[in-house]
Amino acid sequence: MIRALRPAAYLPVDISDTALERTTRRLAREFPWLDVFPVRGDFSRPIELAKARAARVSYFPGSTIGNLAPEEAHAFLAMARDQAGRMLVGVDLKKDAQLLHAAYNDARGVTAAFNLNLLKRVNRELGGDFQPRKFSHYAFYNATLGRIEMHLVSLARQTVRVAGHRFSFERGESIHTENSYKYSVEEFRALAARAGYSGKRLWTDRRGLFALHGLTAT
Ligand SMILES: C[S@@+](CC[C@H](N)C(=O)[O-])C[C@H]1O[C@@H](n2cnc3c(N)ncnc32)[C@H](O)[C@@H]1O
Repeated sequence: MIRALRPAAYLPVDISDTALERTTRRLAREFPWLDVFPVRGDFSRPIELAKARAARVSYFPGSTIGNLAPEEAHAFLAMARDQAGRMLVGVDLKKDAQLLHAAYNDARGVTAAFNLNLLKRVNRELGGDFQPRKFSHYAFYNATLGRIEMHLVSLARQTVRVAGHRFSFERGESIHTENSYKYSVEEFRALAARAGYSGKRLWTDRRGLFALHGLTAT
C-alpha cells in the first residue's frame, strides 16, 4: 500500500505499544524516505492526530473492522469520516462456510492457540487462575448473523477465580471470545453509506475472498 501510494507521511495508530513500536521499526527499515509518526490511541474514540491536519486518507488494514459489531463498525466509520474524507478499508468477504470453518480451525492450531492465549492473559493481567487445558477452542460460522464466532468451551465442571470474583462453568459451557463479521460488497457499501461514505473503488483477489474498499465522503 505504502509502496503504491507513496505518501509523504504515515501515522500508524494502535492501542498496543508493542505493536506500534514493531510497526514503526519495520516501516523505517522498509521505507527510509517515509515520515512515520506513531500514535498510541483507541480507535473506538476520536483520536487526536496533531500531525495529520493534512490527513488525506485513513487506512484500516486487515479485516479488523469485522471484529466490531455492525453498529460499532458504523460508529467507527462515521468517526473516521469526520477525520478524513477518504478511506481504504479491508473487509473479509462472505464466502463458503466450509472454507471459513477450515480457516478458523486450522490444522496447525494457530487460531486455537490465539484464542486460548486470552486465558493466559487473563491469568497474567487480571490475576486469574484459568487452566487453559481445561478449555477447548471452538469456532463456527453463524450464517444468520454473518459472523464467525470464537468460543472457549469448558471441558469440565469447574470454578475459576478472576480479579477476586468466582466464575462457575458447566461442562460444555462456553466463553464467547470474539466475532469476525463477513460482509458482501453490497452489505459493506450499505454500512459505509449510512456512515456518510460512498464506495467508489473496490479491489478483490481473484477468488473473491477479501475486499479492499475505497470510500469517499459524500
Ligand atoms: C488483528 S490485528 C490486525 C493487525 C493488522 N491490521 C493486520 O492486518 O495485520 C489488530 C490490531 O488492532 C489493534 N487494536 C485492537 N483494538 C484496538 C483499539 N480499540 N484501538 C486501537 N488499536 C486496536 C491491536 O493492538 C492489533 O495490533
